[in-house]
Amino acid sequence: MLVGVFATKEEASAFAAKHVASTITAAENPVLGVATGSTPLDLYRELRQAHADGTFTLENAKAVALDEYVGIAEDHVERYRNVLSAELVGADKTGLADERLYTPDGSAADPFEAASQYDKAIKSTGGVSIQILGLGSDGHIAFNEPSGSFVSRTHVEALTRQTREDNSRFFDNDINNVPSLAITQGLGTIMEAQRIILLAFGENKADAVRELVEGPISAAWPATILQMHANVIVVTDEAAASKLELKDFYNDRLAALYRS
Ligand code: F6R
Repeated sequence: MLVGVFATKEEASAFAAKHVASTITAAENPVLGVATGSTPLDLYRELRQAHADGTFTLENAKAVALDEYVGIAEDHVERYRNVLSAELVGADKTGLADERLYTPDGSAADPFEAASQYDKAIKSTGGVSIQILGLGSDGHIAFNEPSGSFVSRTHVEALTRQTREDNSRFFDNDINNVPSLAITQGLGTIMEAQRIILLAFGENKADAVRELVEGPISAAWPATILQMHANVIVVTDEAAASKLELKDFYNDRLAALYRS
């Protein structure tokens, strides 16, 4: 696992965008795994800018979402398909075609069946070239909450109270408006991505980052399974990295390998 600690989330996101763009551009069958939430927004802005500059495109790519709330209205602004569409779809964004944006069907009458169909749909893309991840303050990735299986496939998950509180800022600051279920890629599904880049910003992610990078692998902190993936970069700002013991070494190593 490589770790990069940057002074600001903007600098971190610019580094992440370059890594994502070079991976997608080099891929024979480009498939970008996309996260929602606040964390990747600067990265998406960088990708839109690169598209406007003519140095990057998702025109020939597919994009695969991590998760979707169950039962959220199709026209809700926080429905993840709508969020990702607003960030990435169209010639004025990144060139991604709407029909090549894959998201779980959170409106399906049977969300369990929709989860299993989504796992098949991900496989049908040929596999994720690079997966962008955020990190929950409780250590979740996608919506894999503590104590889930490390080999889980796409499934229906109940969100922790902590996650619903964290996400209430998107729902008029009222936890009761936050859906309690989501369809999420499983940890086993996520681990099949060829590359993974995880971003974490802010002090409230510091405990989860410490466990992810320096803690034992434990279902109590689901992101720790990434220690078993051979190609992961964790990109943070100073606040999220504040509880790491070997921060200076991580930056020296990343500089030697990646930063020029
Ligand atoms: C979103 C997702 C979640 C978020 C995480 C962090 O698709 O899968 O794991 O990445 O909850 O959310 P933010 O970025 O809003 O802090």
